[in-house]
Amino acid sequence: MSKHTIVIMPGDGIGRLVMQEALRVLDAAGFDAQYIEADIGWDFWCKEGNALPQRTIELLEQYKVGLFGAITSKPKEEAAAELSPGLRDKGYVYSSPIVSMRQHFNLDICIRPCHTYKGNPLNFIRCSAQDQIEEPFVDVVIFRQNTEGLYSGVEWSHPDGIVYEALRSHKKFVKSFGDVPRDEIAVSTRIFTRKATERILRAAFSHAATNGYKSVTLCEKPNVIRETSGMMYNMAKIIQKEYSGIELRNTNIDAQMMWLTKNPEDYGVIVAGNMFGDIVSDGFAGLIGGLGFACSANIGEKAAVFEPTHGSAPKYASFETSIVNPIAMIESACMMLDYLNEKALAARIRSAIAAVILEGRVRTYDMMKMKGSPDVIKNGAASTRQMGDAIIKKVTSDK
Ligand code: NAI
Ligand code: MG
Repeated sequence: MSKHTIVIMPGDGIGRLVMQEALRVLDAAGFDAQYIEADIGWDFWCKEGNALPQRTIELLEQYKVGLFGAITSKPKEEAAAELSPGLRDKGYVYSSPIVSMRQHFNLDICIRPCHTYKGNPLNFIRCSAQDQIEEPFVDVVIFRQNTEGLYSGVEWSHPDGIVYEALRSHKKFVKSFGDVPRDEIAVSTRIFTRKATERILRAAFSHAATNGYKSVTLCEKPNVIRETSGMMYNMAKIIQKEYSGIELRNTNIDAQMMWLTKNPEDYGVIVAGNMFGDIVSDGFAGLIGGLGFACSANIGEKAAVFEPTHGSAPKYASFETSIVNPIAMIESACMMLDYLNEKALAARIRSAIAAVILEGRVRTYDMMKMKGSPDVIKNGAASTRQMGDAIIKKVTSDK
């Protein structure tokens, strides 16, 4: 009997390719687990009208820990056109299975670490006051509320009836939009709840305290978005009182996006609502190598799913030799190991990745700043498999 059971969801495109490497690295490190593969993604939408089949939900309900690659998503109309003919016009409406999974399991805490690997040619550099090139060391962990806010899907085009009446009950609506015809209005709501706000803030402060970070930066806009960002800021001030060694900073999302290239080394834990958390985490990911390095965890009270933040990159999915960088996927697997309290294994894999990057002999096309094409291999880039092999070699030599 294995110690752990993991539901793996390779999904579509390069999700499947990077998943293979993550599993090979986990095996090489000696992770004691059995894997159960679950269906998710585009094929299941086309064949069954559901990109997240009920059987996958049941497997996650049973085993509670998932490792996810990536899926392909398409706009509503394109998705409808690709449904198998027998399912058309039967009321199937496409929705993203990863968003559905986050909402079904209430995976409300999204964690996205961004840290510099020494020797990564994609690291952000800047010019110092003395005209020297400097490479700030980034070590930031973004806590993004994952289920509410602008991504909760509570929205209307030309709102009618009681929705429109409710809007009209707000004097600012009447002043700014009172004369606009209803069918020219679209509304997406930004709903924050006390419980989810408190949970994401507590997770952020607790992570800072346990991992030696000196500050938690709330990245919202409470001076303008007074009710929702304001709720989060007020709650942050209350929770900070329980963590006397940790400073609470308050930045606005727009200013934060400017500051992150000026002084990224000054930030530790960042916490934000869904939309701003998504934005600021992509911003920081850009400083440490981009999508090939950006890993994440989605954690709820009853289940957790780990995934790279990149998508299925269909244009690279069918090359004879895969060129994409598996590090974001492998790092996501390390986050899973931390969650399962297999911290020594996670640390070993991370040191192996660090050693491969520092040596600089094995670099995927993104690290070589090449344009993605099958030719990158003959021009010296490592394949997905070669990067996996290099990491495995370090993991096993370290045993
Ligand atoms: P994408 O993340 O798949 O790719 C964007 C670009 O980033 C690629 O063309 C490539 O240049 C680079 N890239 C991505 N992953 C890489 C890796 N591991 N190594 C090296 N380079 C990498 O985003 P895109 O092209 O906007 O979307 C493609 C499909 O993926 C769409 O159907 C989209 O809906 C879906 N998607 C799925 C996500 C998920 O499963 N969580 C997240 C984002 C997009
Ligand atoms: Mg994003």
